[in-house]
Amino acid sequence: MGVFEEVAIEGHEQILFGYDQVSGLKAIIAIHSTALGPALGGTRFFPYESEEAALQDVLRLSKGMTSKAAAAGLDLGGGKAVIIGDPREDKSERLFRAYGRIVDSLQGRYITAEDVGTTPSDMDVVRRETKWALGNSVALGGSGDPSPVTARGLVAAAKAVAHKLWGDSELTGRRFAVQGVGKVGSAFAQLLAEARAEVIVSDAYESAVEAAVEKYGVKPVEPDEIHKVDCDFFSPCALGGILNADTIPELNCQAVVGSANNQLATEADAERLAERGILYAPDFVVNAGGLINVYDELHGYSRTRALHRVDAIYDATLEILKTADELGVNPNQAAIEVANRRIEMIGGLRKFRRNGDDRN
Ligand SMILES: NC(=O)c1ccc[n+]([C@@H]2O[C@H](COP(=O)([O-])OP(=O)(O)OC[C@H]3O[C@@H](n4cnc5c(N)ncnc54)[C@H](O)[C@@H]3O)[C@@H](O)[C@H]2O)c1
Repeated sequence: MGVFEEVAIEGHEQILFGYDQVSGLKAIIAIHSTALGPALGGTRFFPYESEEAALQDVLRLSKGMTSKAAAAGLDLGGGKAVIIGDPREDKSERLFRAYGRIVDSLQGRYITAEDVGTTPSDMDVVRRETKWALGNSVALGGSGDPSPVTARGLVAAAKAVAHKLWGDSELTGRRFAVQGVGKVGSAFAQLLAEARAEVIVSDAYESAVEAAVEKYGVKPVEPDEIHKVDCDFFSPCALGGILNADTIPELNCQAVVGSANNQLATEADAERLAERGILYAPDFVVNAGGLINVYDELHGYSRTRALHRVDAIYDATLEILKTADELGVNPNQAAIEVANRRIEMIGGLRKFRRNGDDRN
């Protein structure tokens, strides 16, 4: 399939290919939608096996950001960027500054931040060339690592689900199986332990599990056992695609609330979960804490305001579950519907042109 045909499938607005021969920078920026505001999404630095794979990933991820921002009620569109390369070897000041200039050429239609393979300090370098780089380090007045805030959003979502299922949002005594105790999963395990929930964890790295066990008193299980644990909540905080035709029949939970992006292998898996009576809280709704946090930098970062907005994931989750009931659809379909309605309703305001609006 040609590039233009691929871009046409999901109606992306614009794709920009950026190249710098000196540093070896190969970047692709995808703007899926600016209907609700500038397209915000992180920069993924990853050793893609081909340029085609990088393009497909950035198209998919940028579309997901449109839904995530819309469902969170933010004045943001959806975008994402990928840099092709090994983040352990290929990073340099020149590369990130060249990238910053490319981002700057979009004059705010796309706003970048950190993602897999990039860090707040990388964003500090990008920021030297453009003001359209967020997720800067705390020392520079930025919001720093979003992971603890994402974990806080998961707690809010889990409380909403508990309220829906059991009429009580307390997490004390509830049993959670957390897959992956990396940046988000370990912060989530900590918050759950503080709430006196029972927490079982796994990770591909034994050292990560050991650290969580030691710090938070959680219990470990083998990586291939975690989704089978008898629990109230299964919390995927590692990989996408974990909810699929093989794993769903083996789940032993009442609900799924986790940070991993693209947890459903296919949309049909949302229906599989519903058929099993498992309440799936859509990933892009419950993991929006990091995005909400970084968004706040656009208004001069206030931790208090950002956390207040993140806690509203409780209400956003309840609204989606209510919409699912009203429409007789699964929560994933309801979340897409809520996001699309907002894009249509608020995005439609663009017909009233405003000073500073782009030309879409
Ligand atoms: N960091 C954020 O603020 C944020 C925001 C939204 C979404 N997410 C998503 O949440 C997920 C976790 O993000 P993170 O920042 O904590 O990443 P991370 O790399 O710090 O943590 C992921 C952890 O999962 C582990 N893991 C990998 N494969 C595993 C397996 N098969 N079984 C068990 N553990 C496994 C890794 O060893 C690692 O410890 C990712 O999907 C990410 O895209 C993160």
